[in-house]
Amino acid sequence: MSQSPLAIIPVAGIGTRLRPHTHTLPKVLLHVAGKPILAHILDDLPALGIAEAVLIVGYMGDAVREYVSANYPRLRVEYVDQPERLGLGHAVSLADPWADDRPVLIILGDTIFEADLKRVLAAGVSSIGVRSVADPRRFGIVETDPGGRVIRLIEKPANPTSNLAITGVYYFTHARPLMDALHELQRKNVRTQGEFQLTDAMQLWVERGGELTTFPVDGWYDCGKTETLLETNRALLDKRGGAPGVPGSVIHAPVVIGAGAVIENCIVGPHVSVASGARLKNAVVRDSIINENATVEDVLIEGSVVGGNALVRGGFRRVNVGDSSEVSIT
Ligand code: G1P
Repeated sequence: MSQSPLAIIPVAGIGTRLRPHTHTLPKVLLHVAGKPILAHILDDLPALGIAEAVLIVGYMGDAVREYVSANYPRLRVEYVDQPERLGLGHAVSLADPWADDRPVLIILGDTIFEADLKRVLAAGVSSIGVRSVADPRRFGIVETDPGGRVIRLIEKPANPTSNLAITGVYYFTHARPLMDALHELQRKNVRTQGEFQLTDAMQLWVERGGELTTFPVDGWYDCGKTETLLETNRALLDKRGGAPGVPGSVIHAPVVIGAGAVIENCIVGPHVSVASGARLKNAVVRDSIINENATVEDVLIEGSVVGGNALVRGGFRRVNVGDSSEVSIT
């Protein structure tokens, strides 16, 4: 069996805080900076020599499956259903039949990050992506010794002893010891906050002498709620977005416009991501994400997310305002 790394990508989450958008789409298919969240992850795999992935699907798994098979024909993908939400550790353990003892790169499907993964894979040491945060209580944390080796991992500690947060990117040179630890937690029903945790399995493995180090995650973009999705949209567009020319409209960079989007007589940008098939007419749009085939017409919008096939239409107001008056139209 080939020893190239296998990507394990859990994408089963419901994305409750992104409603209403996640009523009709799984969170990982929401657009940000020109493409779905999941595409930001999958597009980076070939450069790492990764041609196989296991996607752990749950909520709206069929939509994920359809999207990936239509857009990534060259990636060999297995889909495993996680019918019950038993935790990240449980999700990852479902990839065991494909992981065997191969190197595995686990990437949480709802996180966009920037890190030198080529270097991590080349180093040949198991390593997890971390970032220093002011309040680590809502993350897993790691403690390291002066040599950088991980000595302790704790999932969402009430009183954190380190501010190095686990970001959701993990590389293991051999899957077997991790999978064994994950199965052991489930056999013994060891849960933290009600769930089987990947962090707890890593702790078990480290206690037994597993060698684990950390690597820095330079960009870590959360997509958990509408505000953070827009924040991520701004940050990624600042790095990657240009200003496509659109005759008859004014585009303020950075903006991305998908194939087949129609923009007529608009002022668009900065920080706007327009998905393919969307139609913008007589509109002023800034700091917004307009999803596939949506229509935005005769309106000024900012800080907005418009769902696929949605229609947002405004109109012109009529006023009859006397001298020295003040009128605000909001
Ligand atoms: C998961 C992990 C946690 C990590 C976090 C990163 O938690 O269990 O260790 O810090 O992802 O986003 P979740 O956010 O799924 O609760």
